[in-house]
Amino acid sequence: MNVYDTERMTGLLSLDGIRAVDSPDDADIIIINTCSVREKPEEKTYSEIGRYRRLKKKKGNLIIGVAGCVAQQRGEEIVRRFPCVDIVLGTQNVGKISELVSEVASGKKPVVKTEFYDNSNINIGSFGPFPRNPNRYTAFVTIIQGCNNFCSYCIVPYVRGREISRTSSDIMDEVRSLVDSGVFEITLLGQNVNSYRDPKGGQKFPELLRMISDIDGIYRIRFVTSHPKDMSDELISCFKDIEKLSSHIHLPVQSGSNRILKLMNRGYKVEDYIDKVERLKLVRADLAVTTDIIVGFPSEDASDFEETLSVMERVEFDNAFSFKYSERPGTAAARFEDGVTLREKSRRLEVLQDLQGRLTMKSNLKNIDSIYDVLATGPSIKNPKEITGRSDQNKIVNFKGTEDAIGSVVPVKIKRALNNSLWGEVIRP
Ligand code: 5AD
Ligand code: SF4
Repeated sequence: MNVYDTERMTGLLSLDGIRAVDSPDDADIIIINTCSVREKPEEKTYSEIGRYRRLKKKKGNLIIGVAGCVAQQRGEEIVRRFPCVDIVLGTQNVGKISELVSEVASGKKPVVKTEFYDNSNINIGSFGPFPRNPNRYTAFVTIIQGCNNFCSYCIVPYVRGREISRTSSDIMDEVRSLVDSGVFEITLLGQNVNSYRDPKGGQKFPELLRMISDIDGIYRIRFVTSHPKDMSDELISCFKDIEKLSSHIHLPVQSGSNRILKLMNRGYKVEDYIDKVERLKLVRADLAVTTDIIVGFPSEDASDFEETLSVMERVEFDNAFSFKYSERPGTAAARFEDGVTLREKSRRLEVLQDLQGRLTMKSNLKNIDSIYDVLATGPSIKNPKEITGRSDQNKIVNFKGTEDAIGSVVPVKIKRALNNSLWGEVIRP
């Protein structure tokens, strides 16, 4: 979502003739778009501000802005602590970036804008079309922002506010204009896309998926993130009926222990989670399932952790993002006692990542000799003589090829499985 918001700010500023440069040294405006989901990225915000403060001393008239979740959470505190900051832009005010930059340029500073909106005044704040980089084949489109779930460890509902869905007609317009500019893979974004509901027509997420899949020129549709408790039968059957839906779902399990899931306020049991994954795989046999897992949540003991490892083995996740629990101010879990030591969190994370490494390799090995349609997006980072893209299962696939493949869908036979990617050869028809 931060990538999308950054794109949006870049696009909106371009309407005023402001263009992106490659290095901060060449910039007149620097906006730091921040994340506060764990302590580490929040700390990074402050070190980045410090870095640009030095640059501002050298350059004089540099405008520094802080956007995103840390901006939302800390507000005025940021300008008090860092007088070099000119703009603080909360998560629902991304659309106001141009206005705030021109206010600062005309001498009014600092400006702090962190109010929240709701469905009645949504168009003022949150969404809307914006110019994009035209040479693209894949794009993000936000459909809902905010979250009503209040998982006990999570700061998102506080910094992104309650759920606000965008109208389906707005979303369709944005998707159509992206398709016209050459995009053929869309990733629909939201903290919890399953709760999408059109504020005008009442359509729910499965209906939205069907509407988007009817747009000519769309090749593949992805979405992140889904909440297991809201994985409805209707949504599961979309994987049966909508061919354009990619064979991948990101479904955060967070823990394999029912006791911990309850403390996390997740609203499902491990058995429900496994049942949903099994039903999904019944309608889409090759569905790749990835997940998020937190280790060291307050009071997590050795047997809770064992249960997390066993759900991983049971589901055989294709990949997992795993994190040490990080206490976030204002959340319910910040009041929980019985914290796990940092050392133990690190040990558990290592054991978990080791297991996931083996599961990911197992999943990648299964792809050998299969042929996948790969949407080629650019030269490979490691080997510029190769082309990179993603398979339907959202795995990175590199293959020998020339640049004219970029922007097309190429049939690739997988020959090798690596830790984080697949390697294959183009099949000529
Ligand atoms: N500590 C550690 N990980 C967290 N996440 C969210 N909040 C925290 C926290 N306080 C993780 C969850 C979520 C992902 C985006 O970040 O796993 O799914
Ligand atoms: Fe955070 Fe839970 Fe909402 Fe996800 S569903 S954003 S983890 S509160």
